[in-house]
Amino acid sequence: MAKDVIIACDFNSKEKVLSFLDLFKGKKPFIKIGMELFYAEGPEIVKEIKKRGHKIFLDLKLHDIPNTVKKSMAVLSRLDVDMTNLHAGGTINMMKAAIEGLTREDGTRPLLIAVTQLTSTDQESMTNDLLINEPIDKVVMHYAKNSAIAGLDGVVCSPLEAGKVHEVCGENFLTVTPGVRFSDGEVGDQKRVMTPSEARKIGSDYIVVGRPITGAEDPVKAYERCVKEFLG
Ligand code: C5P
Repeated sequence: MAKDVIIACDFNSKEKVLSFLDLFKGKKPFIKIGMELFYAEGPEIVKEIKKRGHKIFLDLKLHDIPNTVKKSMAVLSRLDVDMTNLHAGGTINMMKAAIEGLTREDGTRPLLIAVTQLTSTDQESMTNDLLINEPIDKVVMHYAKNSAIAGLDGVVCSPLEAGKVHEVCGENFLTVTPGVRFSDGEVGDQKRVMTPSEARKIGSDYIVVGRPITGAEDPVKAYERCVKEFLG
């Protein structure tokens, strides 16, 4: 199974992201484009980065009625991204509709990954704001199972949850994990972090790394270190 390091390109303009990618010369890292860059620059930025030969994880976290998600996924699929995502909270029906929309005429489609509960949601806010009266770990695993039932390829989760997700949903169900930091690096606002080599040991399939690479003095060196520690 493909394992890779995905760089979270959390920039707010085309100029910034392209000059960051220029640093990599011939190398073509897997790139995550999130809402900030997509809303600033639109689909053109996806096409431009794709044209440069990068794989793209388009992180827009769709959540709407099944019909709207299906039609929107069809549009994203035509952008030829390699991976995209949605909120599992939209229900199994919404996730099934997403897969239908994403699937191209030739039967291929980008990988589809679910967000279970956001890592910014804790037990207290889930219980009080969302009125979900179950332990958060149970809810995360339940949503992961729902994603597998709907036919999705995996979930975004903390590296700490990756092992359990594989136990519950199978070894081939992908775990895409942010919250990765170098052992000698700054943690910033991430609460529960792991190093790239710990993430590998626990079974993460893809790690999503932003500031430890984008904010490094030498981003290419930081990326290469990350790949070396994660892929071994
Ligand atoms: O800079 P950093 O390495 O913390 O970036 C992590 C990336 O992963 C960011 O784009 C962030 O939005 C995303 N992410 C996350 N936690 C989640 C889901 C996505 O940090 N639960």
